[in-house]
Amino acid sequence: MALPPIQQAKWLPADTFKNEVALVTGGGTGLGLQISRGLAELGAQVVIASRTQSNHGPFLEEAEARGWSVESLQLDVREPAQCQSLIDGIVERHGRLDHLVNNAAGNFVCPTHRLSANAWRAVLSIVLDGTFYCSKYAGRHMLKAGKGTQLNIVATYAWTGMPGVAHSASAKSGVLTLSKTLAAEWAPHGVRVNAVAPGPFTSDGAKGNLWPDDETEERIRSSVPMGRFAGKAEVAAQCLWLMGPACSYVTGDCLTIDGGLSLGAGRLFADGARPGKKDTPR
Ligand code: COA
Repeated sequence: MALPPIQQAKWLPADTFKNEVALVTGGGTGLGLQISRGLAELGAQVVIASRTQSNHGPFLEEAEARGWSVESLQLDVREPAQCQSLIDGIVERHGRLDHLVNNAAGNFVCPTHRLSANAWRAVLSIVLDGTFYCSKYAGRHMLKAGKGTQLNIVATYAWTGMPGVAHSASAKSGVLTLSKTLAAEWAPHGVRVNAVAPGPFTSDGAKGNLWPDDETEERIRSSVPMGRFAGKAEVAAQCLWLMGPACSYVTGDCLTIDGGLSLGAGRLFADGARPGKKDTPR
C-alpha cells in the first residue's frame, strides 16, 4: 500500500536536500519530527537527537518504510561536551553537516513569582545554552566547509514578552539575538542562520504544557485572526523553505508563522470601527 505523501515536502523540488546531512534536535516529536520528515523526504540524511530516544520510534519506523537514510542519537543539549562529540561524530561518519535545526525546547506556564530558580535554569539551559552549544559546534564544521544553514525555533513572545512564560520568553529572546549575531558573523563564510516564530500549533508537548484544558485551547484559538491553530506540516514547510536554496540570500531573519496572532492588538476593534457595532465583510 502506498504511503500518503509528506505534506510539508510538496512545495519544494524532491531533490532540494539531496546528499546533504541535517541534524534536528528534538527531531522525534512535534514540530521537530515534521521538519525531520520533510528533510528526509527531500533527500537529506537526517540525524535526530534528543534526551529521550524512545521518542524516536515513529520517525525510525517511517524512515524504514519510506527508505529514508536516518540516524537516531541520544543527546542532552544542556551538556556542551555531548553536543560537541555528537556533532563531530556526525561529520566523521557522513563527511559533512549541512543543516542544523535547533528545535529542542522545554516550556511550561508558571507565574513568575512562583517560578523556582531551578525551573528558570532548566528552561534557559535547554533553550538558550543548548542552542548556543549546538550552533557553535555545528558552526565550526560549516565555517570550514564554507556553507551551511542553521534554523532556530523561537516565538513571537521573544520580542513582546508574555505573562506566564518569563523563562521561555527570555530564552527565546536570547536565541533570536544569537541568530542575528551568528548570521552577521558567519555570512562572509557562507553560513546562513535564520529563525521562525510559530504561533500555536497542535502538538502533544504544547497541549500538555501550555494549554492543558479545552477552555484555554479555545480561548487561544479564538484570539488567532485566522481562527485556527497552524498545522505542524504548515509550519515545517516554512522551515524547509528557509533552509533551502530559495532563501540563499536570507540570513538573520525571523519568519513569523502565526495566522496573524502577533497582530493581536488589531483584534481590539475587530467587531467594527465603532465599539458595539458589528460588521461583516460584504
Ligand atoms: N510548573 C512549575 N515548575 C515546573 C513545571 C511546571 N509545569 N515543570 C517543571 N517545573 C520545575 C520543577 O519543579 C523543577 O524545579 P524545582 O526543582 O524547584 O522543583 C524544575 O522545573 C526542573 O524540572 P525537572 O522536571 O526536574 O527538569 P527537567 O530538566 O527534567 O525538565 C522541563 C525540563 C522543566 C522543561 C520539563 O518541563 C520538560 O521536559 N518538558 C517537556 C518538553 C517541553 O516542554 N517541550 C516544549 C513544549 S512547548
